[in-house]
Amino acid sequence: MAIQRVHSKWSKTAALLASEQLRQYIPETSPFKRETVRMMLEQYGMIYVKPDRGTFGNGVIRVEKSASSPLPYRFQLDKKVRQFATFEAMYPRLLSVQRTRPYLAQKGIRLLQYHNRRFDFRVMVQHNLRGEWETTGVIGRLGLPSKIVTNYHSGATPLPFSTLMSPHMSEHRQNEYLTYLSNLGVETAKQLQLIYPGIKEIGIDFAIDTELHPWILEVNTLPDPFLFRKLGDRKVFNRIYQYAVGYGRFKAKRTRRVNKNKPQTKTI
Ligand SMILES: Nc1ncnc2c1ncn2[C@@H]1O[C@H](COP(=O)(O)OP(=O)(O)O)[C@@H](O)[C@H]1O
Ligand SMILES: [Mg+2]
Repeated sequence: MAIQRVHSKWSKTAALLASEQLRQYIPETSPFKRETVRMMLEQYGMIYVKPDRGTFGNGVIRVEKSASSPLPYRFQLDKKVRQFATFEAMYPRLLSVQRTRPYLAQKGIRLLQYHNRRFDFRVMVQHNLRGEWETTGVIGRLGLPSKIVTNYHSGATPLPFSTLMSPHMSEHRQNEYLTYLSNLGVETAKQLQLIYPGIKEIGIDFAIDTELHPWILEVNTLPDPFLFRKLGDRKVFNRIYQYAVGYGRFKAKRTRRVNKNKPQTKTI
């Protein structure tokens, strides 16, 4: 059977870069190397350095170089900020976080904010019951103020698209933008499928920058469907689950009623 899961962010990014159309949505990404980190910092002022096979925002670092400060170099990992006078002083500390795991360096995107907290969107794209790609859910993740990642498992709050985007655009424009993201999601899935024919579902982390340009931060091939239970609209989760049953990720739901107050780790 063709593979359904691809762990390497680098492999998935390379697969997407092969598309002329999608390239404009992918922040420059390179394997982590001293000269690359130095050059990207010079060029962008802010970059993200992250494990090639990470999850949950673990090991993700935001690295910045500011113009005017006695300690212009800084990085943040989890809640801890470190500052340095020179690149040479900083780099060994980055290396000690990276250790032996392959890491990537990526252009940093200045995410839109809501109440001074950064957010991004998880877009779920699945094979529907006819075997066509369909965007089945979009959910916002509002990061904790103290963190540089917006993963749910790093304490982000799941919120509807409209809640987060209302301060940034009109209702009419929101609907257009949602359609735009949904279509981009389907294009992303189609492109990945050219290289990985076995995939049936993806969860894309979309960052929106302050110019409202969307960026694909990463594509997950084992996306968490249960995040979508946090949306008020139960229909969205039910459809996601139904499609996942359709391609065999889950067994059909049991009909017994479950206690809503009890945390459910398993519903299959
Ligand atoms: N290039 C980037 N610019 C801005 N924020 C980023 C960037 N890359 C990652 N992030 C932040 O870190 C989070 C985790 O990064 P991601 O690449 O999705 O790795 P993971 O597999 O750990 O979820 C993202 O959801 C986003 O909040
Ligand atoms: Mg992610």
